[in-house]
Amino acid sequence: MRLTFIPPTRTVLRAFLICFLILGTAGCRKAPPEPTGLVAEKAMVVSARAEASRIGVEILQKGGNAFDAMIATEMALTVAYPFAGSLGGGGFMVYRLADGTTGSIDYREKAPLAATADMYLDSLGNPDPAKSRMGATAVGVPGAIAGIFEVHERFGTLPMDTLLAPAIELARKGVVVTENQARRLERVRADMIAVNGDSILFANHCRPGDTLRYAALAETLERIARNGRDEFYKGETARILAAFIQEAGGYITEEDLARYQAKWRDPVEFTYKDLKIISMAPPSSGGVTMNQILKMIEPYDLSGMGMHSARSIQLFTEAARRAYADRNYYLGDPDFVDIPLDTLLSEDYLRGRMASFSFDAATPSSEIAEGELAAYESMETTHYSIVDASGNSVSATVTLNGAYGSKLYCAPLGFFLNNEMDDFSAKPGVPNMFGLIGAEANSIAPEKRMLSSMTPTLVERDGKLWMSVGTPGGSTIITAVAQTILNVYEFGLSMQQSVDAPRFHHQWLPDLLVFEPEGFPESLKDSLRARGYILNEDYTPIIGKVDGIRVLPDGRLEGGADHRGDDTAVGF
Ligand code: DON
Repeated sequence: MRLTFIPPTRTVLRAFLICFLILGTAGCRKAPPEPTGLVAEKAMVVSARAEASRIGVEILQKGGNAFDAMIATEMALTVAYPFAGSLGGGGFMVYRLADGTTGSIDYREKAPLAATADMYLDSLGNPDPAKSRMGATAVGVPGAIAGIFEVHERFGTLPMDTLLAPAIELARKGVVVTENQARRLERVRADMIAVNGDSILFANHCRPGDTLRYAALAETLERIARNGRDEFYKGETARILAAFIQEAGGYITEEDLARYQAKWRDPVEFTYKDLKIISMAPPSSGGVTMNQILKMIEPYDLSGMGMHSARSIQLFTEAARRAYADRNYYLGDPDFVDIPLDTLLSEDYLRGRMASFSFDAATPSSEIAEGELAAYESMETTHYSIVDASGNSVSATVTLNGAYGSKLYCAPLGFFLNNEMDDFSAKPGVPNMFGLIGAEANSIAPEKRMLSSMTPTLVERDGKLWMSVGTPGGSTIITAVAQTILNVYEFGLSMQQSVDAPRFHHQWLPDLLVFEPEGFPESLKDSLRARGYILNEDYTPIIGKVDGIRVLPDGRLEGGADHRGDDTAVGF
């Protein structure tokens, strides 16, 4: 074959020059990755279960907006995904309206009035994880119903009973148990029986293909549809719930329920190169910690290092190590503690934090404290992303904390109760179930919200929506969301490829670099070991279960539904 050199025209040269001048060190913009996930023309919902995604989309097709779909999807998840979605839990939602207005709502659980700083310490002053993780003593005041009603009041367009009807119907008709669900149920069956006795539905062995029906939950949702938000916080449901929790030895009273309020909060917003990232502010650490990580990485040519090269993993790990050290020391409920956000997020401060970083060797976590001024289980939270046909977007992460929360199942109402109290620091310096070491800022106090890692996130590029993303995964949520954004932006993966890509994690303490089981070759691990990284050898967990939506340059939507679960994108 003969190759002919065609000299570039002046126009091409000029375009190249302009591109170079505008983008400077970022280089010319790479062509956007081709989609490989589900592509939809107008609107999409991606969630942990096909039933919930479908219900959200049906609401959009009926003319509802992203917020209407949020309410219907979240309630459908309480039926189809009781592992994490529940009236007995809470969460965070970040939104961006089609006109670019952004905001977020915090419907996180809070500590009951009877809570005290040392409520989970035994007579020797040591934390008793059984009390903060299992059964009624572990339950925080649920926020889910307050959250959806606040959202409805501000942004909803369809009546609440229309939005709750599909979840009620699903609860009556029943949900077919998937392989994943059967496995998860089997894993916690003994704990469920220990907490609830053997009369609850879940004491049975559930097999894939079985249908689970939730008559009590349908009735609870019907009462809420009829009587509104106060049914859950001040009505018959509140009375049944408080009496049930107290009888089981817990702390929550009717007064706790009556005093619960969801709160609108300003999201954390920052730029990463030419992206604008909008994520959750405290009491979640997600936005702040991801902001720190990405800003520490920003000065480097990450894409030039290559995805999952030793150097790019080192850089990300060292940024995460430093950011989590700050997270664990400074962050807590902003209504109770002063968080020096301006300093923590300033470019000077973050540059200083990375001054000790070198590609030659790992920085041992023992040499990193907070800046001057555990065990990993991965899927017991759930995230969903929604974009509607007008361009409004929602990114919401909700949780019971552990798998089926405290395992306490309120049979008369038909839902599980959270064990969110374990997200507090029961004793400064002692790790919680995610191995996170907390400090005074996250100590327990009456009505305080426990620090979260949930990171529901929206990303803009050129002033337009570019991505909606989030994940479960406890302490690994923040690194999983950051890696998903970087996979698309820096490494040219599609949305679907990005959520499926193998992930790694570091959280300062324990000083361990954690890799998922598949996708990281031994030669890479050897080279990291040689630089002083301590790798998790015994236990390689699944890290996160990311769901996201990417807006393609022509306005169509690409779904990313994580292959690690039953997650499904539905769109039209
Ligand atoms: O709010 C938090 O950070 C935790 N309660 C989230 C728990 C979670 O993601 C469980 N899944 N692994």
